[in-house]
Amino acid sequence: MCGIIGYIGDKKASEVLISGLSHLEYRGYDSSGVALMKGNRVEIYKAEGKLKNLVEILKTKPDICNSTHIGIGHIRWATHGLPTTINAHPHTCNCKNLTLVHNGIIENYQELKEELSALGCTFQSQTDTEVAAHLIAREYGKTKNLLRAMQAATKKIKGAFAFCAIHKNEPDKIVIAKRNAPLIVGIGEGENFIASDIPAIIEYTKKAIYLSDYQVGVVKKNSVEIYDENDNLIKNKIEFLPFEAATISKLGYKHFMLKEIHEQGDVIRNVLSGKLISNKEKINLENFKLTQTEIKNIKRVQIIACGTSLHAGLVGKYIMEKFAQIPVDVEASSEYIYRDTIADENTLTIGISQSGETADTITAIKQVKEKNSHIAIITNRADSTMARLADSLLPISAGIEVSVAATKSYMAQLISLYLLAFYLAEQKGITTKDSEIIKLKQELIELPNKVEALLEDSSTTKIKEIAKKYSSFKDFIFIARGINLPTALEGALKLKEISYINATGYGAGELKHGPIAMLDNNMPVLAILNTGVVYDKVLSNCEEARARQARLIGVTNKIERKDKDLFEDLIIIPSVSDLISPALNIVVLQLLAYYIAEYLGKDVDQPRNLAKSVTVE
Ligand code: G6P
Repeated sequence: MCGIIGYIGDKKASEVLISGLSHLEYRGYDSSGVALMKGNRVEIYKAEGKLKNLVEILKTKPDICNSTHIGIGHIRWATHGLPTTINAHPHTCNCKNLTLVHNGIIENYQELKEELSALGCTFQSQTDTEVAAHLIAREYGKTKNLLRAMQAATKKIKGAFAFCAIHKNEPDKIVIAKRNAPLIVGIGEGENFIASDIPAIIEYTKKAIYLSDYQVGVVKKNSVEIYDENDNLIKNKIEFLPFEAATISKLGYKHFMLKEIHEQGDVIRNVLSGKLISNKEKINLENFKLTQTEIKNIKRVQIIACGTSLHAGLVGKYIMEKFAQIPVDVEASSEYIYRDTIADENTLTIGISQSGETADTITAIKQVKEKNSHIAIITNRADSTMARLADSLLPISAGIEVSVAATKSYMAQLISLYLLAFYLAEQKGITTKDSEIIKLKQELIELPNKVEALLEDSSTTKIKEIAKKYSSFKDFIFIARGINLPTALEGALKLKEISYINATGYGAGELKHGPIAMLDNNMPVLAILNTGVVYDKVLSNCEEARARQARLIGVTNKIERKDKDLFEDLIIIPSVSDLISPALNIVVLQLLAYYIAEYLGKDVDQPRNLAKSVTVE
């Protein structure tokens, strides 16, 4: 999983490639590389670590950088082989005539490697991509035509790929191919661009062709030809890219994550805008395409997602079952896809994804699509692969999220799920829930101000103090029950992701069935307890933890004076009903994770081993 870029035109290729790669860093950032082609000379530069290391190398090569106008580039998130310079892309064949960058995973690479080794190929790296480079080069030997070679090679490859290839004997073109990995061709005047994603090229063009799976293309300075798998030349639609060249800035915040946490009040306002006008009016969800009769016929909802989006889905389950009164299953996409799952036209499938490009979720959604289930996609990228699979597209419009740890997109997903649950209840005419829904709608309207109150300095000072105090602990437990169990899971995930502290979320009632064995005074336990049905239960679980010397931190909207002493530290959130509280509690946990990581000096926005968008299975 990685980002790829290609350029052919009159600009300095190195500048276009580096600028593009900098916008693809969310896809990986453990190494990077470019190949620059001038006539039949190809120079390859690669660097381990962040993109800035490659930039430093290119600074020492002004001659080639200033005079080269064709190139391909890559930013890597290691799948096969360590994140070393040797394993960084581009890769070449033995004769070094063919150079390749790749996003995806070649599943039969071992098999191919053995065949190619027997034919005399020698391999420098441990990557699956190098195998593809040799394979395409072998095919080139037969046809002396890069397009034909790519077509023949991709027929032998199993797995996912977006390829950009150049060949010394054909110095006027870049040949591309796509299967189950995103790839677009940006159309310019006397120049063309290739990229995994729009932000990489948006500063140069607003027109692009989205390749479909199994398509192969030849990109030249003044032309783009795309062929289907049967070698028919096809006319792909040129689409207008719905993006502005974003001036992505931290706006004075130390990290994007902190800025994005602070944007959440406005993010909520945005999601509510036009959909929740007042608490007395029905939710307006015109993008949701099922008719009232079809909604009444829904027998089951399945929510499919990964990571943080999966946690949002768990809150969605709670609220949807309660108000829309439909059973909801929430599934990790990676598990969903290797099971005989059941879905039909009376199943509503909701895919949730910040990026809309998570490979596992895309695969799951494609599987469900064949079963006639209505597909609703909740995503921050209305132009993504997943959005294109949607029957009902529900954009969350949270704005570009740069930090790898998702914060504001989670908030936007939560709010979208509240709206969808209330919408389904209203369309089904479940009048018994009306008064409760009216009250909660009012709370949603007031929520942005409460989130902003929580983000004021006076509240964050306490969180900072707690962060500093607990930053040296190696383990952390988060507990909650009911609708805040997903908050505990998400809070633990945030802490793990950016501070590398071993944090786990548990249902508080489950503590006594195993995890309690780990408790002692070296184990901080953060408990979320909101006034509501499970308040007293969580309080009892806290007593159990305290009795085992655990260091208790409470996050609550209210606490009786008599219970205060139970907690070593307390964070009080603004008054809120239990059902809306996940949207406030999570802000506390995001800040806690942020300040712990920041205190420990971690790379908050680009934590090790992670990528913002996981485009491989
Ligand atoms: C990666 C990211 C997570 C994200 C997950 C799902 O693992 O690091 O932050 O929650 O992918 O991504 P999606 O774009 O589908 O929401």
